[in-house]
Amino acid sequence: MSESAAQTILLSDYTPFGWRIEKVELTFTLSPKATRVTSRLRFVPNPDAPKQVFFLHGEQLSLIRAAIDGQTVSPEITDTGLTCAVPDGPFTWESEVEIAPAENTALEGLYMSNGMYCTQCEAEGFRKITYYPDRPDVMAPFSVRVDSDLPVLLSNGNPAANGAGWAEWHDPWPKPAYLFALVAGDLVAKTGAFTTASGKKVTLNIWVRPGDQDKCDYALDALERSMKWDEDVYGREYDLDVFNIVAVDDFNMGAMENKGLNIFNSKYVLASPETATDDDFARIEAIIAHEYFHNWTGNRITCRDWFQLCLKEGLTVFRDQQFSGDMRSHPVKRIEDVLMLRARQFREDNGPLAHPVRPESYVEINNFYTATVYEKGAEVIGMLKRLVGDDGYARALDLYFQRHDGDAATIEDWLKVFEDATGRDLSQFKRWYAQPGTPRLSFTDNFNNGRYEINFKQENQNRKSFPTKQPQVIPIALGLLNPNGDEVLPTTVLEMTEATQSFAFDGLAARPIPSILRGFSAPVILDHDASADQRAFLLAHDTDPFNRWEAGRALSKDVLVRMVLRGESPDPAYLEGLAEVLRDNALDPAYRALVLRLPSEDDIAQALADQGHVPDPLAIYRAAQTLRHAIAAHLKDRLELLYADLLCPGPYSPEATDAGRRSLRLTALGLLSRLDGGARAAAHYAAADNMTDQQGALTALLAIGAGDAQVAAFYDQWQDDRLVMDKWFMLQAGLTPPDRAVRTVTALTQHPDFDWKNPNRFRSVIGAFSGNAAGFHDPSGAGYDLVADWLMKMDAVNPQTAARMSTAFETWRRYDADRQGQICEALDRIRARPGLSRDMGEMVGRMRNG
Ligand code: PHE
Ligand code: ZN
Repeated sequence: MSESAAQTILLSDYTPFGWRIEKVELTFTLSPKATRVTSRLRFVPNPDAPKQVFFLHGEQLSLIRAAIDGQTVSPEITDTGLTCAVPDGPFTWESEVEIAPAENTALEGLYMSNGMYCTQCEAEGFRKITYYPDRPDVMAPFSVRVDSDLPVLLSNGNPAANGAGWAEWHDPWPKPAYLFALVAGDLVAKTGAFTTASGKKVTLNIWVRPGDQDKCDYALDALERSMKWDEDVYGREYDLDVFNIVAVDDFNMGAMENKGLNIFNSKYVLASPETATDDDFARIEAIIAHEYFHNWTGNRITCRDWFQLCLKEGLTVFRDQQFSGDMRSHPVKRIEDVLMLRARQFREDNGPLAHPVRPESYVEINNFYTATVYEKGAEVIGMLKRLVGDDGYARALDLYFQRHDGDAATIEDWLKVFEDATGRDLSQFKRWYAQPGTPRLSFTDNFNNGRYEINFKQENQNRKSFPTKQPQVIPIALGLLNPNGDEVLPTTVLEMTEATQSFAFDGLAARPIPSILRGFSAPVILDHDASADQRAFLLAHDTDPFNRWEAGRALSKDVLVRMVLRGESPDPAYLEGLAEVLRDNALDPAYRALVLRLPSEDDIAQALADQGHVPDPLAIYRAAQTLRHAIAAHLKDRLELLYADLLCPGPYSPEATDAGRRSLRLTALGLLSRLDGGARAAAHYAAADNMTDQQGALTALLAIGAGDAQVAAFYDQWQDDRLVMDKWFMLQAGLTPPDRAVRTVTALTQHPDFDWKNPNRFRSVIGAFSGNAAGFHDPSGAGYDLVADWLMKMDAVNPQTAARMSTAFETWRRYDADRQGQICEALDRIRARPGLSRDMGEMVGRMRNG
């Protein structure tokens, strides 16, 4: 379908569905090429809806029969659904359809993965299973029967009955179709138990393929901790007798919160010390929590329509971030979240794919599961909490759960509970949901007679497609430091509501040094031309851990930009600042590792573009290499000491303390490898007894263009473990130096283990390569062609995964005319593919025209 032929859906067109569904009964007779699905739906007219034609969504279904109140009917069928004449009052609709899960390569609807049946219905996949009003505001209790010879048959809710070759499930909680799930396979469970605060006993199962059951302990433990945390912090209890999680190898996203039956990409469930890194463990913990938290924020309270996606996603991300902070370290978690926000959301907000946290139109909703909806959506909630305070937030959330349990709600409903619970007017704050783009904050300040005055100015980049921007409410957390480093004003939240606004502080003995936007109190860009000395001062003294890190970050960015533009050598103030942080053994090793980490090459490219330069990816790569070498040379003794001291005593534990030590130790190893040609890293690799150390050593080697022997050894050791093999592909595609990157990645795509239809494997090669900035932007244009060819190939079998990865091209306007021309050619080639998907059509169209 061409993009122009595809229909644009508008928020302003929302109308409720003309009927409610009192009861859903589904029967599945499973067979790879001919699964029968019968449905019985009890419809009653919806008194709150305008009169309308009876329409049910349905795609790629063969209708066998349809009946109303037992009488056969002949509905009118199109590509997208059916219409039918129906009685005026309540009626029972029955249909039987046939589908072919084995032929479903898009991994949406009912599909097969390694002989197992599973489903993915969010956002609009249920319509590929049966005819149904596939929209989130139609909620109903489901009863499901599954007929199959496979040993494990699962669906949502509680088990109702079962026998040889069949099972019945009943989910008493009304839910939209996107939360439906079914799984059938030869699976084994790792089982646990949880007793809720009110004494209800819940069985917990993590279902995996035989052989994987010893890799579930961490996920199960994370689930138990998530359940407890949601009771303690949000007062939310689980509401069914069982909670099932299933791991599948072929999955388009991270995981899915289907009611009582979460389905996970196996990458975010399976872990052992030998096969998973510390970061993998942390991600598993976060995603298990995220999906579990959806039980209340998403399932019990769902979204009225897909424009409200951030209602469940922003809030659930915010909750999983709080949880991870509580489980680990708040400052470290905050820095990691901000790194991710800037790398993905700021990048998106600054380019042709920018959209509001609550979009107002879309062609394909799957294209809006974005960093803006998720991560900026979470930041907006963080700002709300900062503005109303912890108590106000708690009261608002209690009211939200009380008022909207069982509802399909909107952002208006969400903001209203905050207004009602706190008495605040949030009409200006609501602009955060409606205006795209990252606001820029700048300031001037002066000091006179003990009075310090600071004048802020906020500006929105005026992208041509979003001309009118109004001032937003920006909570600015500010602290003031004395020239000797003492804090004279503890963190204070200033509330900026005007385009320009001044704040004054009296009774100061000397001109203070401001620490602005502490804890990253708002998702804005702080334009601040501080001197290297000022930044070094904050790096040494700021009492806010986030801003202390931020000062080092800003310094390294300035240093890299000057190296690229003027070939300057690294600023000694910066190197000394790093040395001081490293020496401070009172600082968490994980935090020190983050201070040592350089901004990404993509960050530097954006920084250069912001300053009106055309970034050269190769020059940026070289500057980063030079800077790493200089840091290593300057800090050599200290790094060697850390490397020796930070060895973890005792057996491997994925807990934050040990993970932090490994993180700093491997950072030291990476830097030292710049000086010793990789000798220490090779020894580290040989001695590694866990994947964190093994991958860390291999990373250090690949980053200096070495590691051939280890790449071969890694393959021999892990060729039968699919998740570990993803790492093997990913590390090479992401880290091979630019002079060989295209060649190496081309060879990887020809490797017999490049099972490209598996989304994880595809992302490990094509996704990782598009993050290898200097390789991807090879001046020949070969990197663009490689990615474009594979996106086209993938688009034909799995549009969702292909379209998501097309964002590799979203920054094209930053680059020189040659590269712009090559990228446009690649995009146009994709756009001309016969049979182009709606997903890809929308993405390429927006990128090309934006
Ligand atoms: N709702 C899922 C989550 O955020 C993400 C998802 C979206 C998964 C669409 C599959 C398809 O937890
Ligand atoms: Zn989610």
